[in-house]
Amino acid sequence: MLAYRHAFHAGNPADVLKHVVLLRALQLLLAKPKPLSYVDTHAGAGSYQLGERMSQRLAEYMDGVGRLWQREDVQHALLDGTAGRVPEAVVDYLRAVLALNPDGSLRVAPGSPLLAAGLLRADDPMRLFELHPADFRALQSTFARRRQTTVRQADGFAELRSVLPPASRRALVLIDPSYELDADYTRVLASLRDALERFATGVYLVWYPLLQSLESQRLSRRLRALAPGAWMDAQLWTAPPRADGFGLMGSGMFVLNPPFGLPQALREAGPWLAEALGQEGAGRFALDAHTP
Ligand SMILES: C[S@@+](CC[C@H](N)C(=O)[O-])C[C@H]1O[C@@H](n2cnc3c(N)ncnc32)[C@H](O)[C@@H]1O
Repeated sequence: MLAYRHAFHAGNPADVLKHVVLLRALQLLLAKPKPLSYVDTHAGAGSYQLGERMSQRLAEYMDGVGRLWQREDVQHALLDGTAGRVPEAVVDYLRAVLALNPDGSLRVAPGSPLLAAGLLRADDPMRLFELHPADFRALQSTFARRRQTTVRQADGFAELRSVLPPASRRALVLIDPSYELDADYTRVLASLRDALERFATGVYLVWYPLLQSLESQRLSRRLRALAPGAWMDAQLWTAPPRADGFGLMGSGMFVLNPPFGLPQALREAGPWLAEALGQEGAGRFALDAHTP
Protein backbone atom coordinates (compact mmCIF):
# COMPACT_ATOMS: atom_id res chain seq x y z
CA MET A 1 0.00 0.00 0.00
CA LEU A 2 2.70 2.48 0.95
CA ALA A 3 5.37 1.33 -1.50
CA TYR A 4 6.10 4.84 -2.70
CA ARG A 5 9.10 6.59 -1.13
CA HIS A 6 9.79 10.11 -2.23
CA ALA A 7 13.51 9.68 -1.42
CA PHE A 8 13.89 7.87 -4.76
CA HIS A 9 12.59 10.90 -6.63
CA ALA A 10 13.59 13.90 -4.51
CA GLY A 11 15.08 16.76 -6.52
CA ASN A 12 13.90 15.40 -9.88
CA PRO A 13 12.50 17.75 -12.56
CA ALA A 14 8.99 17.34 -11.15
CA ASP A 15 10.19 18.46 -7.71
CA VAL A 16 11.93 21.44 -9.30
CA LEU A 17 8.74 22.69 -10.96
CA LYS A 18 6.64 22.03 -7.85
CA HIS A 19 9.03 23.78 -5.52
CA VAL A 20 9.63 26.77 -7.79
CA VAL A 21 5.85 27.34 -7.98
CA LEU A 22 5.38 26.71 -4.25
CA LEU A 23 8.07 29.15 -3.18
CA ARG A 24 6.97 31.94 -5.49
CA ALA A 25 3.31 31.52 -4.48
CA LEU A 26 4.29 31.73 -0.81
CA GLN A 27 6.50 34.78 -1.36
CA LEU A 28 3.62 36.59 -3.04
CA LEU A 29 1.12 35.67 -0.33
CA LEU A 30 3.52 36.61 2.46
CA ALA A 31 3.80 40.13 1.13
CA LYS A 32 0.65 40.81 3.19
CA PRO A 33 1.10 40.98 6.98
CA LYS A 34 -2.00 38.88 7.87
CA PRO A 35 -1.23 35.32 9.08
CA LEU A 36 -1.15 32.59 6.44
CA SER A 37 -1.75 28.88 7.09
CA TYR A 38 0.28 26.32 5.17
CA VAL A 39 -1.33 22.91 4.62
CA ASP A 40 0.60 20.01 3.05
CA THR A 41 -1.67 16.96 2.54
CA HIS A 42 1.20 14.70 1.38
CA ALA A 43 4.18 16.23 3.14
CA GLY A 44 6.87 13.55 2.71
CA ALA A 45 9.94 13.38 4.95
CA GLY A 46 10.83 17.09 4.93
CA SER A 47 14.31 16.64 3.45
CA TYR A 48 16.24 13.96 1.58
CA GLN A 49 19.92 12.93 1.74
CA LEU A 50 20.97 12.65 -1.89
CA GLY A 51 23.97 10.44 -1.08
CA GLU A 52 21.77 7.77 0.46
CA ARG A 53 21.07 4.46 -1.27
CA MET A 54 17.50 5.40 -2.24
CA SER A 55 18.39 8.68 -3.94
CA GLN A 56 21.50 7.22 -5.56
CA ARG A 57 19.77 4.18 -7.02
CA LEU A 58 17.78 6.15 -9.55
CA ALA A 59 19.73 9.41 -9.18
CA GLU A 60 16.70 11.26 -10.53
CA TYR A 61 17.96 14.44 -8.90
CA MET A 62 20.78 14.45 -11.46
CA ASP A 63 18.15 15.23 -14.11
CA GLY A 64 16.66 17.95 -11.92
CA VAL A 65 18.25 20.03 -9.20
CA GLY A 66 21.65 18.35 -9.82
CA ARG A 67 21.57 19.43 -13.45
CA LEU A 68 20.78 23.03 -12.51
CA TRP A 69 23.46 22.98 -9.80
CA GLN A 70 26.19 22.16 -12.33
CA ARG A 71 25.44 25.17 -14.55
CA GLU A 72 27.89 28.04 -14.52
CA ASP A 73 25.14 30.69 -14.78
CA VAL A 74 23.43 29.17 -11.74
CA GLN A 75 26.61 29.11 -9.68
CA HIS A 76 27.22 32.75 -10.66
CA ALA A 77 23.72 33.71 -9.64
CA LEU A 78 24.13 31.98 -6.28
CA LEU A 79 27.59 33.37 -5.56
CA ASP A 80 27.12 36.95 -6.80
CA GLY A 81 23.56 37.37 -5.63
CA THR A 82 22.59 38.64 -9.08
CA ALA A 83 20.26 36.47 -11.09
CA GLY A 84 21.74 37.35 -14.50
CA ARG A 85 19.78 35.40 -17.09
CA VAL A 86 18.54 32.79 -14.62
CA PRO A 87 14.90 33.62 -13.77
CA GLU A 88 14.38 35.06 -10.26
CA ALA A 89 11.92 32.33 -9.24
CA VAL A 90 14.51 29.66 -10.08
CA VAL A 91 17.28 31.51 -8.25
CA ASP A 92 15.07 31.84 -5.17
CA TYR A 93 14.45 28.08 -5.19
CA LEU A 94 18.16 27.33 -5.61
CA ARG A 95 19.01 29.72 -2.76
CA ALA A 96 16.70 27.70 -0.55
CA VAL A 97 18.57 24.54 -1.65
CA LEU A 98 21.89 26.28 -0.95
CA ALA A 99 20.72 27.09 2.58
CA LEU A 100 20.68 23.32 3.23
CA ASN A 101 23.99 22.79 1.45
CA PRO A 102 26.02 25.75 2.70
CA ASP A 103 29.41 24.49 1.48
CA GLY A 104 28.02 24.37 -2.06
CA SER A 105 28.18 20.63 -2.60
CA LEU A 106 24.72 19.23 -3.19
CA ARG A 107 23.96 16.62 -0.52
CA VAL A 108 20.45 17.42 0.66
CA ALA A 109 17.26 18.17 -1.25
CA PRO A 110 14.59 20.06 0.65
CA GLY A 111 11.02 18.82 0.67
CA SER A 112 7.95 21.03 0.46
CA PRO A 113 7.35 21.54 4.23
CA LEU A 114 10.95 22.56 4.85
CA LEU A 115 10.90 25.00 1.94
CA ALA A 116 7.66 26.47 3.20
CA ALA A 117 8.95 26.77 6.76
CA GLY A 118 11.93 28.73 5.47
CA LEU A 119 9.60 31.47 4.25
CA LEU A 120 6.71 31.40 6.72
CA ARG A 121 6.75 33.74 9.71
CA ALA A 122 7.10 32.17 13.17
CA ASP A 123 3.36 32.39 13.88
CA ASP A 124 2.07 31.21 10.52
CA PRO A 125 0.46 27.80 11.22
CA MET A 126 1.60 24.64 9.44
CA ARG A 127 -0.65 21.58 9.08
CA LEU A 128 1.26 18.57 7.76
CA PHE A 129 -0.04 15.10 6.87
CA GLU A 130 2.10 12.09 5.98
CA LEU A 131 1.08 8.43 6.04
CA HIS A 132 4.39 6.58 5.73
CA PRO A 133 5.66 5.74 9.25
CA ALA A 134 9.35 6.48 8.57
CA ASP A 135 8.69 9.71 6.69
CA PHE A 136 6.19 10.75 9.33
CA ARG A 137 8.77 10.24 12.11
CA ALA A 138 11.37 12.25 10.20
CA LEU A 139 8.87 15.04 9.64
CA GLN A 140 7.77 15.02 13.24
CA SER A 141 11.32 15.37 14.52
CA THR A 142 12.14 18.17 12.05
CA PHE A 143 9.17 20.23 13.20
CA ALA A 144 9.04 19.19 16.86
CA ARG A 145 10.03 22.64 18.05
CA ARG A 146 8.15 24.80 15.58
CA ARG A 147 5.24 26.68 17.10
CA GLN A 148 1.79 26.51 15.52
CA THR A 149 2.66 23.27 13.76
CA THR A 150 0.81 19.98 13.69
CA VAL A 151 2.26 16.87 12.04
CA ARG A 152 -0.17 13.96 11.72
CA GLN A 153 0.22 10.44 10.43
CA ALA A 154 -3.13 10.59 8.70
CA ASP A 155 -4.76 10.52 5.29
CA GLY A 156 -4.26 14.01 3.90
CA PHE A 157 -7.12 13.68 1.41
CA ALA A 158 -9.61 12.84 4.14
CA GLU A 159 -8.22 15.29 6.69
CA LEU A 160 -7.91 18.38 4.51
CA ARG A 161 -11.43 19.47 5.37
CA SER A 162 -10.63 19.29 9.09
CA VAL A 163 -8.14 22.17 8.86
CA LEU A 164 -10.32 24.43 6.72
CA PRO A 165 -11.16 27.22 6.88
CA PRO A 166 -8.20 28.50 8.91
CA ALA A 167 -8.80 31.15 11.57
CA SER A 168 -7.02 33.81 9.51
CA ARG A 169 -9.05 32.94 6.40
CA ARG A 170 -5.82 32.81 4.42
CA ALA A 171 -4.18 29.54 3.41
CA LEU A 172 -1.97 27.90 0.86
CA VAL A 173 -2.76 24.21 0.45
CA LEU A 174 -0.36 21.87 -1.36
CA ILE A 175 -1.88 18.59 -2.60
CA ASP A 176 1.00 16.44 -3.76
CA PRO A 177 0.14 12.73 -3.98
CA SER A 178 2.34 10.20 -5.73
CA TYR A 179 -0.50 8.84 -7.97
CA GLU A 180 0.88 5.33 -7.45
CA LEU A 181 -2.68 4.38 -6.63
CA ASP A 182 -5.25 4.98 -9.39
CA ALA A 183 -7.63 6.19 -6.69
CA ASP A 184 -5.39 9.24 -6.15
CA TYR A 185 -6.74 10.79 -9.37
CA THR A 186 -10.33 10.75 -8.16
CA ARG A 187 -9.39 11.51 -4.57
CA VAL A 188 -7.58 14.72 -5.62
CA LEU A 189 -10.75 15.95 -7.27
CA ALA A 190 -13.03 14.86 -4.45
CA SER A 191 -10.94 16.41 -1.68
CA LEU A 192 -10.53 19.62 -3.65
CA ARG A 193 -14.27 19.84 -4.27
CA ASP A 194 -14.89 19.29 -0.59
CA ALA A 195 -12.26 21.83 0.43
CA LEU A 196 -13.73 24.47 -1.88
CA GLU A 197 -17.13 24.07 -0.27
CA ARG A 198 -15.59 24.91 3.09
CA PHE A 199 -13.08 27.48 1.96
CA ALA A 200 -13.49 28.80 -1.58
CA THR A 201 -10.89 31.57 -1.33
CA GLY A 202 -7.91 29.38 -0.41
CA VAL A 203 -4.94 29.07 -2.71
CA TYR A 204 -4.71 25.40 -3.77
CA LEU A 205 -1.67 23.93 -5.51
CA VAL A 206 -2.07 20.49 -7.06
CA TRP A 207 0.89 18.60 -8.50
CA TYR A 208 0.15 16.02 -11.19
CA PRO A 209 2.25 13.74 -13.42
CA LEU A 210 2.35 13.89 -17.21
CA LEU A 211 2.32 10.24 -18.25
CA GLN A 212 1.13 8.37 -21.28
CA SER A 213 -1.87 7.06 -19.33
CA LEU A 214 -5.31 8.49 -20.07
CA GLU A 215 -5.99 9.06 -16.39
CA SER A 216 -3.12 11.51 -16.07
CA GLN A 217 -4.06 13.34 -19.27
CA ARG A 218 -7.62 13.80 -18.05
CA LEU A 219 -6.70 15.23 -14.67
CA SER A 220 -5.71 18.69 -15.87
CA ARG A 221 -8.99 19.04 -17.81
CA ARG A 222 -10.98 17.92 -14.78
CA LEU A 223 -9.19 20.33 -12.47
CA ARG A 224 -9.96 23.19 -14.83
CA ALA A 225 -13.62 22.18 -15.00
CA LEU A 226 -13.83 22.09 -11.21
CA ALA A 227 -12.31 25.53 -10.63
CA PRO A 228 -14.95 28.09 -9.70
CA GLY A 229 -12.62 31.08 -10.02
CA ALA A 230 -9.19 31.98 -11.32
CA TRP A 231 -6.70 29.22 -12.07
CA MET A 232 -3.30 28.65 -13.58
CA ASP A 233 -1.97 25.42 -15.08
CA ALA A 234 1.77 25.08 -15.71
CA GLN A 235 3.19 22.03 -17.49
CA LEU A 236 6.88 21.24 -17.78
CA TRP A 237 7.78 18.41 -20.18
CA THR A 238 11.33 17.12 -19.83
CA ALA A 239 11.57 13.49 -21.06
CA PRO A 240 10.55 11.81 -24.33
CA PRO A 241 7.86 9.09 -24.22
CA ARG A 242 9.27 5.63 -23.52
CA ALA A 243 8.57 2.69 -25.79
CA ASP A 244 7.16 0.66 -22.87
CA GLY A 245 4.57 3.37 -22.20
CA PHE A 246 5.79 3.96 -18.62
CA GLY A 247 7.79 6.76 -17.03
CA LEU A 248 7.24 10.42 -16.33
CA MET A 249 7.39 12.72 -19.36
CA GLY A 250 6.89 15.78 -17.23
CA SER A 251 4.57 17.22 -14.63
CA GLY A 252 2.06 19.93 -14.03
CA MET A 253 1.18 22.36 -11.28
CA PHE A 254 -2.43 23.41 -11.19
CA VAL A 255 -3.09 26.45 -9.01
CA LEU A 256 -6.54 27.53 -7.97
CA ASN A 257 -6.83 31.19 -6.98
CA PRO A 258 -3.20 31.95 -7.93
CA PRO A 259 -1.80 35.04 -6.22
CA PHE A 260 -1.29 38.04 -8.49
CA GLY A 261 2.11 37.79 -10.18
CA LEU A 262 2.39 33.98 -10.13
CA PRO A 263 1.52 33.34 -13.81
CA GLN A 264 3.99 36.02 -14.85
CA ALA A 265 6.79 34.54 -12.73
CA LEU A 266 6.16 31.16 -14.38
CA ARG A 267 6.08 32.67 -17.87
CA GLU A 268 9.65 33.76 -17.15
CA ALA A 269 10.87 30.64 -15.36
CA GLY A 270 9.09 27.89 -17.34
CA PRO A 271 10.79 28.20 -20.76
CA TRP A 272 14.19 28.51 -19.07
CA LEU A 273 13.52 25.32 -17.05
CA ALA A 274 12.36 23.49 -20.20
CA GLU A 275 15.61 24.34 -21.92
CA ALA A 276 17.76 23.55 -18.90
CA LEU A 277 16.07 20.26 -17.97
CA GLY A 278 14.76 18.92 -21.30
CA GLN A 279 16.29 15.60 -22.36
CA GLU A 280 16.74 14.57 -26.02
CA GLY A 281 14.91 17.64 -27.28
CA ALA A 282 11.83 16.93 -25.13
CA GLY A 283 11.97 20.22 -23.16
CA ARG A 284 8.71 22.13 -23.42
CA PHE A 285 6.73 24.43 -21.18
CA ALA A 286 3.08 25.41 -21.42
CA LEU A 287 1.10 27.78 -19.25
CA ASP A 288 -2.62 28.46 -19.31
CA ALA A 289 -4.18 30.94 -16.95
CA HIS A 290 -7.80 31.90 -16.55
CA THR A 291 -9.36 34.83 -14.71
CA PRO A 292 -13.16 34.94 -14.66
C1 LIG B 1 5.16 13.06 -3.72
S1 LIG B 1 5.45 12.66 -2.06
C2 LIG B 1 5.40 14.19 -1.23
C3 LIG B 1 6.56 15.10 -1.47
C4 LIG B 1 6.52 16.40 -0.74
N1 LIG B 1 5.24 17.08 -0.86
C5 LIG B 1 7.59 17.32 -1.27
O1 LIG B 1 7.35 18.09 -2.20
O2 LIG B 1 8.70 17.28 -0.73
C6 LIG B 1 3.93 11.94 -1.55
C7 LIG B 1 3.92 11.52 -0.08
O3 LIG B 1 2.59 11.22 0.31
C8 LIG B 1 2.58 10.13 1.22
N2 LIG B 1 1.22 9.61 1.16
C9 LIG B 1 0.66 8.71 0.31
N3 LIG B 1 -0.67 8.64 0.47
C10 LIG B 1 -0.99 9.54 1.44
C11 LIG B 1 -2.21 9.99 2.02
N4 LIG B 1 -3.39 9.50 1.63
N5 LIG B 1 -2.16 10.94 2.98
C12 LIG B 1 -0.97 11.47 3.40
N6 LIG B 1 0.22 11.09 2.86
C13 LIG B 1 0.21 10.15 1.90
C14 LIG B 1 3.68 9.23 0.72
O4 LIG B 1 4.19 8.41 1.77
C15 LIG B 1 4.73 10.26 0.22
O5 LIG B 1 5.66 10.56 1.23
